[in-house]
Amino acid sequence: MECPQEKRYTYEDTKKTADWLLSHTKHRPKVAIICGSGLGGLADLLKDQVVFDYTKIPNFSHSTVPGHAGKLVFGNLSGMSTVVMQGRFHMYEGYPLWKVTFPVRVFSLLGVETLIVTNAAGGLNPDYKVGDIMLIRDHINMPGFAGVNPLSGPNDDRFGARFPAMSDAYDPDLRKLARTVAKEMGCAGCLREGVYCALGGPNYETIAECRFLQRLGADAVGMSTAPEVLVARHCGMRTFGFSLITNKSVLDYESKEKANHAEVLEASRQSARTLEKLVSLMVQRIEHNNNLA
Ligand code: HPA
Repeated sequence: MECPQEKRYTYEDTKKTADWLLSHTKHRPKVAIICGSGLGGLADLLKDQVVFDYTKIPNFSHSTVPGHAGKLVFGNLSGMSTVVMQGRFHMYEGYPLWKVTFPVRVFSLLGVETLIVTNAAGGLNPDYKVGDIMLIRDHINMPGFAGVNPLSGPNDDRFGARFPAMSDAYDPDLRKLARTVAKEMGCAGCLREGVYCALGGPNYETIAECRFLQRLGADAVGMSTAPEVLVARHCGMRTFGFSLITNKSVLDYESKEKANHAEVLEASRQSARTLEKLVSLMVQRIEHNNNLA
């Protein structure tokens, strides 16, 4: 039986997809944004859109999750040429990590220099409320502890080095910019900064798991993001991201609360506009500080 982690797209496969996209659009994006559950509305802010359904792009996987539209949208966001993934791929859909992260390598070959990731997450930090936006300071990649890592297997130096550092995975300058922009928008009160813990999903966590993750230093938990960030850093892109806190993790055996996807999508809908505005203002500022992008 084929081991799905062993086969992977080559540099040439990745280049073929990048060249196909470049031949179908005049956009030359410097910024890529991956939208989490219910957060794809960001793509609607793009001007001069060129839209590709994932099913039409060579080598792309397909979105199977409600709240993930499965479209790649090129356009100008606040004047900056940008590409937006309306929907990402997840391990829990059955995709191996080399498929989950393939778009990131394609973005790198398109010339993208900055990757912004968003996700929906459960709040482990007791101070967090539903609707809070957490600036990701760092992540804990739980599948990686068991060797499930998109960078495992033969390394192609054309993408990046065998042993990439991750101590600066979430760019400190961009985090600072996010705090400044949030203050200017008057929403500094809903902006948190913390550690995102990535699990494989698809089930939500048990109470014992939530307590364990909280003690490990995680502030929020979700089922994505870390693989894409690992691959983006491997190919030298600057990365940073936001978690939208869509539910409070259940930490108490007396609680009657239960996480569910409908609740996650509803909470995303309510705070998504704030997050979209924050990201688009940041992208504008990245352009203005053009030494940042
Ligand atoms: N756990 C994992 N993933 C999630 C959650 C959660 O509580 N909320 C949204 N995505």
